[in-house]
Formats: sequence, structure tokens, C-alpha cells
Amino acid sequence: VICDVGSDHGALPVFLLKQGLCRRALISDIHPLPLSRAKLAVKEAGVESQAEFFLTDGIDTIVPHKPDAYVIAGMGGETIAGILSRALAKLSSGVLFVLQPMSRARILRQFLYENGFFVEREEIVLENGKTFPIFCVRYDAVQRKHEEEFYFLGEFLPHLRSDAAKAYFQKLLFKTQSKIAGKMKAGLSCEKESREEAVLISVLEEFQ
Ligand SMILES: C[S@@+](CC[C@H](N)C(=O)[O-])C[C@H]1O[C@@H](n2cnc3c(N)ncnc32)[C@H](O)[C@@H]1O
Repeated sequence: VICDVGSDHGALPVFLLKQGLCRRALISDIHPLPLSRAKLAVKEAGVESQAEFFLTDGIDTIVPHKPDAYVIAGMGGETIAGILSRALAKLSSGVLFVLQPMSRARILRQFLYENGFFVEREEIVLENGKTFPIFCVRYDAVQRKHEEEFYFLGEFLPHLRSDAAKAYFQKLLFKTQSKIAGKMKAGLSCEKESREEAVLISVLEEFQ
């Protein structure tokens, strides 16, 4: 049983149900219009009997339905962290979360390590020329504190050698260097960004 949080077009639950990859799908959105889009997609795919819909903010009202896995994709990292944070007290150990932040992956990563999520894997995927970080994590209520620098790339990304990972590091390097240029122009310290630039350059060297 999966829960697609912020499903919008409903493409993911339709795919999973049609492929037989899940038995039931709990489909949510905070807004009525996207939820109605998901309802229509599910109806058109003929999998209505296996779907349940929730017009709700986050996962608080879904947790009692005990899905085996949640997918929270296509939102900002801070929004995802906020959704998880509000439900922390109700979560049971072992539940799987697949998270795909559109921004602020570092903030999400720090939240996960420090708030009881065991990070099983991180991946970068490339679609239509854009890169997306994906986290696979399980809630286990064990808090893990790391040095600030750890959260920049985490433990998995520096070891990835895919084209997608390379494109992601190049994008991060470009952003970091733009930040450094902006800060230098404004006469501000850019020590942290320069350290991050060095990390990215050394990771990218591994690809040659
Ligand atoms: C950009 S769409 C992503 C759709 C789909 N998950 C994907 O990855 O392609 C983001 C969706 O999340 C919904 N959303 C935003 N904040 C939410 C929240 N706190 N709880 C539930 N849904 C939320 C929005 O209404 C929107 O439909």
C-alpha cells in the first residue's frame, strides 16, 4: 500500500497500480483541483477500486491508514521536511519514504538525519535534461547528528558515477560559483561556499 502525497496528476499511483507494483494507493493533495485531476486519471485508468483519495495537508490524517510507503515528490525540500516534522509523533518504525525535493535538498537531508530517518540510499535521476535528487529513507526514530559540512552532499552522492550525478554536480558547481561571485562583489565572506566549491571540483575530478 503506497501513499502518494501531493499527487496532482496522479501519474505515479496509476503507474504503480497498473503495473501491479502496489495493491492499493492512498492519493492525497492539499488542493481540490489537483486532487480532482488525480481522481480523473485513476478513473480513466480503470483502477478506481484500488484507490482512496484524501484532500489534506501533509500526512497527519493518512498515518492511521498505515501505508507501507509514502512518496513525497515535486515539492521543495523544506515543505517535505515540514510535512514529515508535523507527523513525527505518529510515525511507526520501518515505514519507507521516497522523497524527491525540487530544491533545498541539503535542508531536507539534515532534517532526515537529525530527526529519526535512516537514509538507505540517495540517487540522482536525469529526465528531459533536468536532474532530480531522490532519497529512500525509513523512519527508525534514531537521531544522527553530523558536522554541518556533511549535509552538503551526504554519504551517497559523492560515490555516484552516473551521467545524472555528473550533471547534478556541474549544476551545483555553477550555482556555488555564482554565489561566490555575488558574495565577493558585495564584499561578504564566502568561506563556506569556497569549501563547497572545492568539494564539488574534487568529486567531479573522479569522473575523468
Ligand atoms: C508540483 S506538484 C508534484 C506532483 C507530483 N507529486 C510529481 O512529483 O510530479 C506538487 C503538488 O503537491 C501539492 N502539495 C503542496 N503542498 C502540499 C501539502 N502540504 N500536502 C499535500 N499536498 C501538497 C500541490 O497542491 C501540488 O499538487
